Parts: sequence; structure tokens; C-alpha cells
Amino acid sequence: MNGFNVFEESLRQVSNKLGTFKLKVQDENFEIFESHVHAGRSIICQPYECEDALNSVYVIRGKLYHSNEDRYISSGSWFTFKNLEETQHLSVVEETSLLTIRNKNITEHQLDFMERIVPFMDEIQLKDHYTDEHCNRTGNLAVQIATFMKLDEVVIENILFLGKIHDVGKIKISESILNKPSRLTDDEYDIIKTHPQLGYEIIKHLVDYTHYAEIVRQHHERIDGSGYPDGLKSGEICMEAKVIAVADSFDAMTSDRPYRAGLSLEDAMSEMKRCSGVWYDPDVVNALLTILERTKKIK
Ligand SMILES: [Fe+2]
Repeated sequence: MNGFNVFEESLRQVSNKLGTFKLKVQDENFEIFESHVHAGRSIICQPYECEDALNSVYVIRGKLYHSNEDRYISSGSWFTFKNLEETQHLSVVEETSLLTIRNKNITEHQLDFMERIVPFMDEIQLKDHYTDEHCNRTGNLAVQIATFMKLDEVVIENILFLGKIHDVGKIKISESILNKPSRLTDDEYDIIKTHPQLGYEIIKHLVDYTHYAEIVRQHHERIDGSGYPDGLKSGEICMEAKVIAVADSFDAMTSDRPYRAGLSLEDAMSEMKRCSGVWYDPDVVNALLTILERTKKIK
């Protein structure tokens, strides 16, 4: 018998489009957590998860890419995080099963938030396939950028939770506009531009912490004040929204739409450079470009 099959029951189990998460063993200062995470998703490990604690992860099957260390981790290996100074980012390359053992009890908090957010991801998926895929890619890239920039761990976690649903307001917009196979008219574009405010209202009713709703509301603001809905300038826009804006725009530029082909990687990188310091925060753009150069090298 495989030693990892001994825990038949789960104390708590959450299954969603990210994967399946099972809390197996828990007491005040200890937990064992099993997860099956789908390819294309991101896993992060925050310094607070490992403060004075050990977070050991065994890869039962699958493959991960550890962005901080620029290396792959395959099935059969362990990795351990302890007293981290920066957030660790892992991209899930193949369907992956993990067993996490840690001497700190934090999983329930993470599962609680996941349970509240994921239904909205499902709703986005039902409404509009492009928006769903775009939100996923944007969320993953935004977390990677934030990790690379060594932003505050709370900021990174906010991006992890909200990056994937930043366009949630679009569930209130007519499918005929969202899925229109040709360019939008000015009036239709004005309707699309209401989605940050619509998203703000959805998130505000979902969680007490209004900063989450603000992040969603600000993701189309531009640092020169030319964005919407409020025309905020650099110092008025929260860091989470600045990071999501860069990941969002880059993904939109490189995606094919029915009415236009996406830009090549090189052209999109030039375009981001051109708009750096005008629309986008230059530090965030620099982080994105460095990550893209690195990824190109690995491929
Ligand atoms: Fe948006």
C-alpha cells in the first residue's frame, strides 16, 4: 500500500476548477493538507505561512516550476520552506498532487476565501469563455509579477485572490456585447467600461473588507489619469490594481479576438515599454519584461 493513501477521510474538502483540496489532519499547531492542482494554475507560499514554521511539500505526482529559483520540481521530490523572506511562486506545469505538512494551522482560512470566490469564477466561465480564460491567465501572471517584485505578502495574497476575478463585473453585461464578433460601437464600449464599478458592487457585498472591492474597481485606471472609472493618478491607485492592469493589458494584447489577431510577444513587449510610465507603473512593467525574457530563455 502506498504510504500516502492512509488518510481515507478528510476533515474538510473543497473541489473547484483550481483543483481539490483536502485537510487531512489538524490540531492547534499542525496540519497535513493534500491538494490536487490543475495544470496552468499557480501556487504561492507566503512568508507568514512559514514564520517560525516548517512547510514541507511532497510532490506525489506532476510537475511544478519554481519561479523564484528558476527550476522545475517533479514527482517524487520534497521541497521545504522555512523562515521565508519573500513569497514563493510555483506554476503548475502538469496536473499535480501534493502533500503539505506544516506546523502552523492556516489552511481553513485559505479554504474559506476560496469557497467564496470560486463561484464567481464559475459564473464568469458560464457567461463568456474568453473572459474566463483571460481572467485565469491574468491572475497567474499578476501573482508572478507581484512575487518577482517582492511586494508585501498581503498585497500578493490580494492579487492571488482577486486577479482571477478582476473582470467579475462582466457577468452583469449582455452576452451579445461581450461576445460580439466585430469591433464594439462607442455606445457598446461605454457599457463595457461600467464593468469595474459593477465588479466593485459584487465584491463589496461578498466580503466586508472594502479594499478587495477597490482593487476590482481600479484595474482600468492609468497612472497618467486617463483611465476609468475615476481617472485616478499613480499615487491614488492601489498597488494590486497597478499589477493587475499590466498583466491584464499584456494578456489582452497577445490574445486573438474574432475581429483582430493578437500581437506577437516582441510587439507586445515593445508596446508595454512604450506605455510604461504613462499608463502603467514602470516598476511593474520592468518586472513583467524581466519575467518574459526569462521565460523565453527557458523555452
Ligand atoms: Fe477589465
